[in-house]
Amino acid sequence: MTQVYLDHNATTPVDPAVLDTMLPYYREVFGNASSIHHFGAAAKKGLDEAREIVATYLGCEPTEVVFTSGATEADNHVLRGVFEARRQKGKHIIVSAIEHPAVLITAEKLKQAGADVTFVGVDGNGMIDPEAVRAALRDDTILVSIMYANNEIGTIQPIAEIGRIVKERGIMFHTDAVQAAGKLPLRVKDLGVDFMSLSGHKIYGPKGIGVVYIRRGAFIRPIITGGHHESNRRAGTENVPGIVGFAKAFQLAHERMEEDGRRIGEMRDHLQRRLLELIPNIYVTAKNARRLPGTLHVLVNFIEGEGLMLKLSLNHGIAISTGSACTSGTLEPSHVLSAMGISKQLANSGVRISLGRGNTPAEMDYVAEAMAREVKILRDMSPLYDSYTRGRMSEDDRRMYDSFVTAR
Ligand SMILES: Cc1ncc(COP(=O)(O)O)c(C=O)c1O
Repeated sequence: MTQVYLDHNATTPVDPAVLDTMLPYYREVFGNASSIHHFGAAAKKGLDEAREIVATYLGCEPTEVVFTSGATEADNHVLRGVFEARRQKGKHIIVSAIEHPAVLITAEKLKQAGADVTFVGVDGNGMIDPEAVRAALRDDTILVSIMYANNEIGTIQPIAEIGRIVKERGIMFHTDAVQAAGKLPLRVKDLGVDFMSLSGHKIYGPKGIGVVYIRRGAFIRPIITGGHHESNRRAGTENVPGIVGFAKAFQLAHERMEEDGRRIGEMRDHLQRRLLELIPNIYVTAKNARRLPGTLHVLVNFIEGEGLMLKLSLNHGIAISTGSACTSGTLEPSHVLSAMGISKQLANSGVRISLGRGNTPAEMDYVAEAMAREVKILRDMSPLYDSYTRGRMSEDDRRMYDSFVTAR
């Protein structure tokens, strides 16, 4: 069966050039970077060079780059580390309502530990209003954390503008830039951030490696304690193969950013057009917002996104995903779509298609046609769709659907 991978926001394949860079660090250069002998020194050299490469693209000092086990740890490091370091000064933290669980759940946990958390909402296009962030700032605010680009719907937030507002008040500012990496410029000074989280496996690098940028002078406590690694900010023997792989992937992502963005953006737009042509009652989520070039989230009204995803996987070899998480047998709608004011039923019809470097224009036509076919089969089984199309739906329900269509 044809195989089409369209779940790049979940993870990406490791680029062969990245793997080639990593392999010697599993074979010959296997020393512990903390060891003083020449085996250790060789590993340390790889580690130092990797740190310099990452710093170059972030426009920061190498000492401001801390390697972690991934972005989940990076996000935890910032939220917990700032709260630990500054809780005497204040207990107020601001995060957006559409953050990745690595931030959102951590903020909830800090709430249980005594933090006061404000969740800033989004508009119908999934955008955060910088003025809403300004309005939420308080004298006891110690941290603002707003993601650069959303992993489900691809919206790009005005981080530089929010950064200016937050910095005017001298408050610490963090952005989770996992989905923006390789797609948008990440120079930390231009964005006005004190902290940034990055992940290797979203940029054609290895899994289990990430970065937290920590501005020099930004007061934060380590969350993993032990040895003196990473200048006392993150204990644990450095994952040198992962780190050199991260740096290579980060470098490639920057070198290819423009070309990848244009090519992937064109394919996404083509797929979006085809889906709108072939499938009635389908809506592009956050259509009017600035979105990542490779992300396409659609609401396929009258079906379950999970069902469509499984049918595409089983019958057509196509991998996409849904925003909803299946918790203990109940389909909970995506917190991102809920924050946008989208009803539970419609939210559960959502699917995310995320393109990457390996995709081709021909695949987009294959996917559009397969989706159209499977959506028709699923809708033919839906009594709701039948009543809608045959005009048997109650006036109230019809108004609900139609107002949604016009709103889009
Ligand atoms: C926006 C965002 N933040 C954080 C993470 C977590 O990254 P990691 O898998 O490196 O822990 C992800 C991954 O899904 C993400 O998309």
